[in-house]
Amino acid sequence: MPTLTYQGHSAFLVESGDTTLIFDPFLTGNPLAKITAEEVQADYVLLTHGHGDHVGDAVQIAKANNATIITQFEVGNYCLRNGAKNVWQMHIGGAREFPFGKVKLTPALHGSELPDGSGGGLPTGMLVTTGGKTVYHMGDTGLFSDLKFVIGAFHKIDVCLIPIGDNFTMGIDDAVIAAEWIGAGLYIPMHYNTFPPIECDPQVFVRQLEAKGMKGKVMAPGEVYEF
Ligand code: NI
Ligand code: MN
Repeated sequence: MPTLTYQGHSAFLVESGDTTLIFDPFLTGNPLAKITAEEVQADYVLLTHGHGDHVGDAVQIAKANNATIITQFEVGNYCLRNGAKNVWQMHIGGAREFPFGKVKLTPALHGSELPDGSGGGLPTGMLVTTGGKTVYHMGDTGLFSDLKFVIGAFHKIDVCLIPIGDNFTMGIDDAVIAAEWIGAGLYIPMHYNTFPPIECDPQVFVRQLEAKGMKGKVMAPGEVYEF
């Protein structure tokens, strides 16, 4: 069974078989992270969009591990310009089979400017199917109707990693609406309590889900969950 390990903010490791993926490895400067960039061992680095709190230590981790970065076109070009050797570029709506499973990029309603101020294209979410399970990392996003009519309607999602911190993304109330639309088996909140503008109580989110017959789980940084 695949496992998820949370590292605070939107950073998650997925271990599936003998492959390790890391989503949005913002570790340096992330007060919630339990590992340093130097400690990460990963085969693939998955980036949802260009903001610094998502690209994070991606290039350093990719170089140190000879890992492949999977991301959309513009963020991929930034990684190549900054010295990453192996970058697989995709874009929204596109899917691809990798040795560990399938990745499909979905829309997200947000920005994507890169840390050097260059344009980062459109932000994405990522559907990753591995070990017979599908994880949906929503990236940063506000509520938008394709969550219901495109993503929820046509994908069976086991675990959804969902932003709840408000200000830059959905807050709890909109995240509960998104959850109703997505129809995943489990929701794990992210993108909260890293910095003061996104402070909130994730247990409020879980209680609101449960009141509507859905399941949520708050992961502590460093915690491992088998799904
Ligand atoms: Ni962002
Ligand atoms: Mn962010």
